[in-house]
Amino acid sequence: MGDDEPPIFEIRENHLDSGLRGIPVGTCQTSFVDPIKGVHYVGYPVEDLVNMEEEDVIYLLFNKRLPTEQESLDFRAELAHRAEEMPTGALRVLESLTPGAGHPMDWLSTGILALGISDTTGDLRTDSMNLVARMPELMARIFHLRGGKKLQTRDSRPDLGLVENFTHMLGISGKEADRMNRVLRFFFILHMDHGGGNLSTFSGKAVASGRASIYASISSAMSALSGPLHGRANQSCLEFVKRIGSDDPQEIESFVRGELSSKRPIYGFGHGVLRAEDPRARLLIELGEEICPDDSDFRTVKTLREVVPPILSEIPKISNPYPNVDIASGALLQSVGFRKPDYYTTFFGWSRVAGITAQILDERGARGGRGTPIYRPKYIPRNQPVRRLES
Ligand code: MLT
Repeated sequence: MGDDEPPIFEIRENHLDSGLRGIPVGTCQTSFVDPIKGVHYVGYPVEDLVNMEEEDVIYLLFNKRLPTEQESLDFRAELAHRAEEMPTGALRVLESLTPGAGHPMDWLSTGILALGISDTTGDLRTDSMNLVARMPELMARIFHLRGGKKLQTRDSRPDLGLVENFTHMLGISGKEADRMNRVLRFFFILHMDHGGGNLSTFSGKAVASGRASIYASISSAMSALSGPLHGRANQSCLEFVKRIGSDDPQEIESFVRGELSSKRPIYGFGHGVLRAEDPRARLLIELGEEICPDDSDFRTVKTLREVVPPILSEIPKISNPYPNVDIASGALLQSVGFRKPDYYTTFFGWSRVAGITAQILDERGARGGRGTPIYRPKYIPRNQPVRRLES
């Protein structure tokens, strides 16, 4: 379609410079977001899936149906097999970075790109499965190397499962590992996919549409996710909760009103698509009741959930005053031992690798196998009268 052809949908002036908000640009087979009922993976509300094995949910996103018992075993075995070989060149790139420097999300984008340099086969499914399989070790390496620890031996146990191998590589065991795995698996499943239009997914698919590799596409998606208006909001949300430092409703109300009058954001509320409380927020708060009911930050979160929506509802331009997925995830991750909020977005990124790669594969299979064409939306020139240099 050329730039001069009329658009398929009527685009009005107020749609321009609005971040494509609400404008249909494609189709999505992995998930959809109902504004009230939240995200559904291949038709299942996420609450039906959240207590499953994470590999089964990944299988669902790729195959558009849940696996049988045997398929589940085979898929886990395939991932474990693919994880056995970790390209060492990629790890050397990370080892050359200064421990603690930059944001962990920059390490994640760099690590994925470095995996691609060592490892791209060019076969989209193979590259996608290799990436999904090798993410736990990449994540664990980033945690260790940023903390200044160089792993001498390779202590990966892919047979344990994706999340379990990650905590194992962090050196966590016993009851502590059980609690961590429970929260991480839950978080992982809740964050795997969110329709096609969220910024990281859209960016990954846009890059992939130019036929870039899976690694380059997912690395770009992770860079998109690193922004404070997107994935990094989960880090900001726990920092915000800690600044409040109380679960008293009146203190919270005056804190929130103070933030609003200073034009500062209220983290953990609102969403581009949802128009009710995000079911993922409710599910995380229910998990918090099980895992850390007396944690002081978790108690602040629960009071925020009650106190903030009526305050935000007083502001006419706010279309969704309700809690989103970020409200409780940080408090839960912290309560099971992840003390540094700047790592939280890497968990979000790791989770979304599955959804984004599945969507890229779907787009590559579109139009009878020809794939979606390279993304090329139209931008309308503004303040650019034709000029000539004077000779
Ligand atoms: C989310 O998980 O809520 C998102 O990635 C944000 C969005 O859908 O735009």
